Amino acid sequence: MPLIDLENVKTVAVIGGGTIGASWSAWFLAQGFTVRCSDPSPAAREAAPGLVAACWPQLAALGASGSAQEALARFSIWESHIQAVEGADYVQENAPERLELKQKLLSEIDAALPVDRVIGSSTSGLKASDMQTGMAHPQRLVVAHPFNPPHLIPLVEIVGGQQTSEEAAADWAVAFFNAHGKRAIRVRKEVPGHIANRLQAALWKEAAYLVQSGVASVEDVDLAISEGPGLRWAIMGPHLTFHLGGGTGGMAHFYDHLVPAMQTWWADLGTPVMDAALREQLVEGVQQEVGDRSIADLAAERDRKLIDILNVLSPDPQS
Ligand SMILES: NC(=O)c1ccc[n+]([C@@H]2O[C@H](COP(=O)([O-])OP(=O)(O)OC[C@H]3O[C@@H](n4cnc5c(N)ncnc54)[C@H](O)[C@@H]3O)[C@@H](O)[C@H]2O)c1
Repeated sequence: MPLIDLENVKTVAVIGGGTIGASWSAWFLAQGFTVRCSDPSPAAREAAPGLVAACWPQLAALGASGSAQEALARFSIWESHIQAVEGADYVQENAPERLELKQKLLSEIDAALPVDRVIGSSTSGLKASDMQTGMAHPQRLVVAHPFNPPHLIPLVEIVGGQQTSEEAAADWAVAFFNAHGKRAIRVRKEVPGHIANRLQAALWKEAAYLVQSGVASVEDVDLAISEGPGLRWAIMGPHLTFHLGGGTGGMAHFYDHLVPAMQTWWADLGTPVMDAALREQLVEGVQQEVGDRSIADLAAERDRKLIDILNVLSPDPQS
């Protein structure tokens, strides 16, 4: 059976209303969808509308129209995921990161949802192949992994499992998110951490090693990224960046010219020993770096600058 046409998607079920579910809800509302959220926790159900409303000024700064109140009129929160998926045209699952819990949840959602609807899971570390084992229609499950916070960061990593229909569900999910301004990418093999978290992990491994081996302070390692390549990485990824590094010869010249040197650097990269002493060194180093700025101050600064960057990079800037 063909999947629902993208233009017929009007209602999204968001399963789990915690950190990621609330942020996803706000983003789906900003795209004009009706959002039916579920969470078994009374405290989470009580908190969810406030979390969604708190995202609204940022979404408005990125061009969302209407007020938080108007958006919340399209938002409902349910105790039961079965009730939440009633009438849903797409499901985004954000329950706790536990395989058995997600398997049960997904098989129940699968049984309640018409078969032409796609189900995406926000999981950071579980495989679709493992999560879909109890589903009667496993072909419609994809990992649709956001980057926190999903209401701001465009990236969504789409990964299918062994039983996922790549041509149908994965293609559909990429087209769905891209049609609404996300940048969805395909991960063609199930690997731990998908792509972006692996790249972050590779970089942080060397960053911690440089601190541990006394090459530089925590702050200077951070500055080496935020005042250097990090500025370019918001515009182009590592391959395009090096394509320009090759001058007029592009990647071909970069490869021939600089790969031998790069290989000697690779041979020298380290693996930090993640012991108590390094923990203390990193905690103290970060404390020196932040001074008297609270975590809330830092988060506000990050989000304000992030919105400025997103507006500059947007193909359709708001101002
Ligand atoms: N936090 C991040 O940075 C991040 C980033 C990307 C992806 N993710 C993924 O998103 C998912 C959710 O993570 P989170 O950080 O929002 O966790 P969270 O603990 O903030 O929220 C999980 C919510 O799920 C609810 N819940 C528990 N059982 C449930 C059930 N059976 N049905 C529906 N809801 C249920 C909980 O009450 C809670 O409100 C995880 O799979 C995680 O790997 C998290």
